[in-house]
Amino acid sequence: MGRKFFVGGNWKCNGTTEEVKKIVTTLNEAKVPEEDVVEVVVSPPFVFLPLVKSLLRPDFHVSAQNCWVRKGGAYTGEVSAEMLVNLGIPWVIIGHSERRQILQESNEFVGDKVAYALSQGLKVIACIGETLEQREAGTTTAVVAEQTKAIADKISNWDNVVLAYEPVWAIGTGKVATPAQAQEVHAALRKWVHDNVNAEVAASVRIIYGGSVNGGNCKELAEQPDVDGFLVGGASLKPEFVDIINSAT
Ligand code: G3H
Repeated sequence: MGRKFFVGGNWKCNGTTEEVKKIVTTLNEAKVPEEDVVEVVVSPPFVFLPLVKSLLRPDFHVSAQNCWVRKGGAYTGEVSAEMLVNLGIPWVIIGHSERRQILQESNEFVGDKVAYALSQGLKVIACIGETLEQREAGTTTAVVAEQTKAIADKISNWDNVVLAYEPVWAIGTGKVATPAQAQEVHAALRKWVHDNVNAEVAASVRIIYGGSVNGGNCKELAEQPDVDGFLVGGASLKPEFVDIINSAT
C-alpha cells in the first residue's frame, strides 16, 4: 500500500486566541482532498491545544510541539505524554531542531522522548536535519543517520512514527532545499532504514520535508518519490497552508 501524504503545520510559539480562531476558521472552510488521501495535523502551542481541538474539523488532527521524556511528576514547566493522552491529543512533535539547538536536546534524549511518547500511545513526528556547516562539510547523510539511529535504538515499532527531515539552514530562512536535495536525503534515509531497521518499515515509514515550504514550492517537492509530505512552519499560519495540503494530489 502507498504511503498516505502527510501535511503538518507547526505553529511554533505564535498566536493569540483570536489569531488561533482565525486560522482554524480558514482550515475549517478549506476544500481539501479526503482524509484517506492526505493526513492533516496542526500543532499549536500547548495552551491552545484544547481550544483548537474543540473547534477544528474532525478530519484534521492536533499535535503538541513537545512532551516530557518520562512520566510526569516534579518537572516544573514540563508537559507529560500522559497529559496529552488525557486531553485526547494524538500527535506530538519531538526533536525539532529549535529544541535540539536552543535547548541542547541531544540525539539520545530525543530517542528517549520518542520511545516514551510512543509507549504512552502518542503518534510522533520525529525531526532530524543537518546544519549548514554539516552540509558544507559533506556530512549530511551521516548526521541524519546518526539522529535516526538514536531513535531506532530505542523503539521497535515504527507504525506511529513520521520522520521529518528538516535541514536547519532551510528553516525560517526562505531558503528551501531544492526538490533534488530533498529527494537525495529522503532516499538516503529510506535506505538507512532499510539497511538498519527492515525493508517493511523502509517501505512504509513516511518521510516528510520541512524548511521554508510554501504555496509556491510545495508542488514540485511533493512530486519527489520519497517526499511523503511536509512539516510547515511559517506558511502554516497563513491561508496558503491550504494550497500545501492540496499539493497531495
Ligand atoms: O517545523 C517546521 C519547520 O521548522 C519549518 O519551518 O516552514 O518556517 O521554515 P518554516
